[in-house]
Amino acid sequence: MPTAPALVAGASRGIGAATAEEFAAAGARVVLADRDTEALTSAVRRIDAGGGDAVAASPRTFAARSSGTKFQIPAMLGTGGGTIVNMASVMNGTANVAGKADIIGLTKVAALDHADQGIRVNVVAPGHFLTHHREAAGPGAQRLAGLSTPMRRTGRPAEVAQTVLWLCSPASSFITGAVIPVDGGQSAGSKPPQMYRQGQPMAAPPGDI
Ligand SMILES: NC(=O)c1ccc[n+]([C@@H]2O[C@H](COP(=O)([O-])OP(=O)(O)OC[C@H]3O[C@@H](n4cnc5c(N)ncnc54)[C@H](O)[C@@H]3O)[C@@H](O)[C@H]2O)c1
Repeated sequence: MPTAPALVAGASRGIGAATAEEFAAAGARVVLADRDTEALTSAVRRIDAGGGDAVAASPRTFAARSSGTKFQIPAMLGTGGGTIVNMASVMNGTANVAGKADIIGLTKVAALDHADQGIRVNVVAPGHFLTHHREAAGPGAQRLAGLSTPMRRTGRPAEVAQTVLWLCSPASSFITGAVIPVDGGQSAGSKPPQMYRQGQPMAAPPGDI
């Protein structure tokens, strides 16, 4: 059971909401932050109604205090340590490749700077997940995302949340500066409909190639 409170940014929906719910279910006090204050209030109420202990960070406090590791690390140094998990992506779309590369770089620097001070900093890199974006994109987009994943399905936000919880627990106590893919095998490479196995015939694919 976590003993320290967990601050989850972007916690109103999607992966952030699932992460806040996972920590609350594990017994942590959760501080949720999001720029969408209406959705934030609903997310806090949902956790409290389920028996969890959640509070909303005021947008001003969040804006002032959540600038990456700049404010979090001094606070952790003052209280004996802590863990930070940042969110990148295994996808290299033009919209997010630069931002996510920055996040990975900053995570590694922070991890090295504070590795001997009780602070661990890691990154989770999700693949294709079924969140509000993909729900809005419709069943065709969801099917394509699943097909392009070696496990042939999209991920569930709880599958990222469980990895974040693990990265914040003593079970991962020797891991820092790491990029952990949670992607159904996507970062291992592409998986064709049938893999060649020596001595086994290849079936003809449906339709033309
Ligand atoms: N959904 C996926 O398939 C997927 C895949 C790869 C990586 N990711 C990464 O995972 C993270 C979560 O993704 P998601 O799709 O669940 O949700 P999302 O990225 O759409 O945003 C989640 C929440 O963050 C809030 N938010 C965004 N910018 C903010 C800011 N500056 N200040 C405060 N709140 C802010 C939004 O209001 C929203 O409620 C993101 O970093 C995303 O890049 C998601």
